[in-house]
Amino acid sequence: MESTLVLIKPSGVIRCLIGDIIARFQHKGLIIAGLKMMQLDEAILHEHYAHLVDKPFFPSLLVSMTRTPVVAMVVKGVDAVAVVRSMTGATNGRKAAPGTIRGDFSMSGQENIVHASDSVENADIEVRRFFKPEEVFNYTDDTFKYLYAPDEV
Ligand code: TYD
Repeated sequence: MESTLVLIKPSGVIRCLIGDIIARFQHKGLIIAGLKMMQLDEAILHEHYAHLVDKPFFPSLLVSMTRTPVVAMVVKGVDAVAVVRSMTGATNGRKAAPGTIRGDFSMSGQENIVHASDSVENADIEVRRFFKPEEVFNYTDDTFKYLYAPDEV
């Protein structure tokens, strides 16, 4: 069972998509193991987007990501990292496939509604970056039999 980090970015918050996005993950059968609203600052964004700090668009990304609070979630399931990435879609909303969150709700490579961890290794780091251990809950073991075959979990 994997856990992955999802952020509903200011573009998703301001466009009133919080409920729709959470519903997509829940309807899929993924479990929301952690959930909170946070105002991000430059320090956490420098860490979170360390691979992008030298890009020309980084200052604009900082403005975009601090415009409103974000909704941070820990999303849990078998192969959750890959499943959530595929539900998120390509970085640029204009290129993301219809049916994905970015493909359905975004026209932009920056204002692209959600962040989702891109590897199991990064998911572990990002969950720990945004959530204290006591903010991640384990309340759903009884439901796995309705979501998976016995040999899948
Ligand atoms: P990246 O990690 O490349 O993509 P993803 O979010 O799909 O994992 O980029 C992180 C964020 O940086 C991206 O979601 C939006 C922003 N960004 C831009 O604003 N312009 C760009 O050209 C790129 C590549 C990213």
